Amino acid sequence: MTRRTIVGGLVAAALLVAGSATAAPDPVARGREIVTRKCGVCHAVGPTGDSPNPAAPRFRRLNERYDVEDLAEGLAEGLTVGHGPMPEWVFPPEDVAAIVAYLKSIQERDGPSEKTAAPPKR
Ligand code: HEC
Repeated sequence: MTRRTIVGGLVAAALLVAGSATAAPDPVARGREIVTRKCGVCHAVGPTGDSPNPAAPRFRRLNERYDVEDLAEGLAEGLTVGHGPMPEWVFPPEDVAAIVAYLKSIQERDGPSEKTAAPPKR
């Protein structure tokens, strides 16, 4: 997926949300809200900017090390990997889906280079 497609998708999603107040919340927007609140103290959670805690990876670069989809399991079962003394979170499935949807939407690259056949993205 190109960045242009991502931006276009986000704009379309934002317009959809703005257009219908009764629609189910957009998972990407929900994910952004969750990570901004819970992770933004340390991580750069947006498409720009540096992490407040320099040791914390910028979320938009996570897929240089992981398939972002693989984080879903950690988020559902308790994210402790690499987090040392950090609080451990366990997110309900709908939050996990929202967080993953958001993280996918901000990745700067298509994924780790060793990854071969990537599943089709929307
Ligand atoms: C108190 C600060 C802090 C908060 C809050 C925080 N993180 Fe982190 N996170 C870190 C640090 C520091 C690292 C890097 C640890 C390392 O590389 O040893 C990290 C690493 C990570 C990694 C990469 C782990 C790895 O093995 O490379 C992921 C994924 C991650 N955080 C996700 C999250 C998510 C999702 C949230 C919110 C639910 C969150 N973090 C909240 C400090 C934080």
